[in-house]
Amino acid sequence: MAARSFETLSKRYSSHKPPKGMPGGPGMGGPRGGGPGRRGPGGPGGKPKNTKTTIVRLLGYLKAFRFRIGIAFFFMVVRAISQIAGAYTLRPIINDYIAVGKMEGFVYALAVLAGIYIVGVVSTYVQNRIMISVSQGTIETIRNDLFQKVQKLPVRFYDTENTGEIMSRFTNDVDNIGMMLDSAVMSLVFGIINLVGTFAMMLYTNVWLSLITAAFLPIFIRGGALIGKRSRKYHSQQQAALGALNGYIEETVSGQKVVKVFCHEKDCEEEFSMLNDDLRGKQFFAQFFGGIMGPVMGNTSQVCYSLTAGIGGILCALGRFDIGGLTIFVNYSRQFSHPINEISMQISTFFSALAGAERVFQIMDREPEAEDKEDAVSPGKIHGDVVLEHVTFGYNPDKTVLKDISLYAHPGQKIAFVGSTGAGKTTITNLLNRFYDIDSGTITIDGVNIKDYSRSTLRKNIAMVLQDTHLFTGTVMENIRYGRLDATDEEVIAAAKTASAHSFIMRLSDGYQTVLTGDGANLSQGQRQLLNIARAALSKAPILVLDEATSSVDTRTERHIEHGMDRLMEDRTTFVIAHRLSTVRNANAIMVLENGEIIERGDHDELLALGGRYYELCTGQKELD
Ligand SMILES: Nc1ncnc2c1ncn2[C@@H]1O[C@H](COP(=O)(O)OP(=O)(O)O)[C@@H](O)[C@H]1O
Ligand SMILES: [Mg+2]
Repeated sequence: MAARSFETLSKRYSSHKPPKGMPGGPGMGGPRGGGPGRRGPGGPGGKPKNTKTTIVRLLGYLKAFRFRIGIAFFFMVVRAISQIAGAYTLRPIINDYIAVGKMEGFVYALAVLAGIYIVGVVSTYVQNRIMISVSQGTIETIRNDLFQKVQKLPVRFYDTENTGEIMSRFTNDVDNIGMMLDSAVMSLVFGIINLVGTFAMMLYTNVWLSLITAAFLPIFIRGGALIGKRSRKYHSQQQAALGALNGYIEETVSGQKVVKVFCHEKDCEEEFSMLNDDLRGKQFFAQFFGGIMGPVMGNTSQVCYSLTAGIGGILCALGRFDIGGLTIFVNYSRQFSHPINEISMQISTFFSALAGAERVFQIMDREPEAEDKEDAVSPGKIHGDVVLEHVTFGYNPDKTVLKDISLYAHPGQKIAFVGSTGAGKTTITNLLNRFYDIDSGTITIDGVNIKDYSRSTLRKNIAMVLQDTHLFTGTVMENIRYGRLDATDEEVIAAAKTASAHSFIMRLSDGYQTVLTGDGANLSQGQRQLLNIARAALSKAPILVLDEATSSVDTRTERHIEHGMDRLMEDRTTFVIAHRLSTVRNANAIMVLENGEIIERGDHDELLALGGRYYELCTGQKELD
């Protein structure tokens, strides 16, 4: 079977849109997983769109290092001067010693020359060291800022962005900025100083010969610009192709089980080789244009060199020019193409770093979760009296997901939601702790609008077992303690017992000290759920939300933990979304949701008597999912 076409593939994997059909419902609270080194689609390629503002913002980061940068600049100028002066020193050495065969003082003159070059080498060393410390310091700050920002972003951001893509901003893009600060900026300025300085020295040495070089100048500049432009173009295409390939690898590696289940290995190989082939092509041209710059410029300057050497030689023979002057002049003219070379090469680093910086700043400019109100209330104790009145909500303005939902839950009551997949059950729980804010209507807890609480107060008072579990790298003990950081070991163990997790934890190799990795990959899905329940059990929040908390636990275990769950729900206002209707039977009220509306409500007996949808579900006339 033919694999997807190349166009579809490259577009899909280098675009910044999230892949369709990502598993998991909306609003998964904690940070998403994503192992180190996952690189998302969309490399740093492409020209920055808003160069000036980006540069100004980068300069803002450099401000803290201005003193060090000043020193680095000083040493860079010393280095440029020593290079130009060193070359010039040859003139008196040749004229005054070598040409006339004078040995007295010759060694001294050579020592001066060596001294100048040593100063140059030391300055280069110092300048590089300082700039590396500046660039590493800067990108450390940028990474910190970016991470802090990402922590403040609303759940909507995580629901819509591709994890790999976010990761690549921390890695690829930030590294590019670092590379630019390390070397490109200084090389660029050094190249310019070197170019101007060398030409000035040529003029000083011999005006007429300088004119020959001046005639070649447009060729150098034009050639450099042309090749540089090509090189930049293919460089950015190469980055995009690399991003596409990385995106594809990431997806097939993390989804390898699905690939195997559906026997898509062959297709994957084909698709991969298409993307790989594209990268090879782009890389070829990027390398080619990067590589021919030196030889082309070198050969052109060789022509310039021969011309100046020939004409200079004639001038010398006529006694119009000194042999030392000629030597250094041809030296200068041979070196002349180097700075142009360097400048055009560094410009590409410069641009891809700016493109990276822009992508980093894009995230920093994202709207964070709205600030808490200034007079936000933080009551000492919340009882858990929850009221929803005419709540309407949609993730996007053009699609309403919940319509006119009204319900109340008195402290300690158990409210259940049932309904088919996509009916809006998880969405209701997303609104309670303000993962998303409602469009109209009100939600109050203990009579206070939830918008008037600070977010931390609100979330501390609502314990949630989310539909998709998440465990962090760390021990079982630490993972459960995530529910309440000041809990003692005994409390953690008691919570695990409540959730019926204790016995399987004790069977793990190191018990509570077993280290979980890769989102608890060494546990079964049901065991992961039990740990998440234990986490909620540890929290003392008066409101509890269980979103299909036991969907992957077998019925026997479920019955086993029923007792613990009852204890967990005791004295707490509980919202429970259940997969199995048996678990909601004893709820104070059951809400049957259909397309975002509550179509039936009441307790188990009332709903059965009603003979409606719930009755159909219970008697098996209709399947739940
Ligand atoms: N993050 C999201 N962005 C946009 N739409 C979403 C998001 N999460 C869920 N939806 C949509 O909202 C509806 C309700 O989803 P959800 O509340 O998760 O249903 P369920 O009852 O299965 O828990 C679905 O139609 C789903 O497509
Ligand atoms: Mg759900």
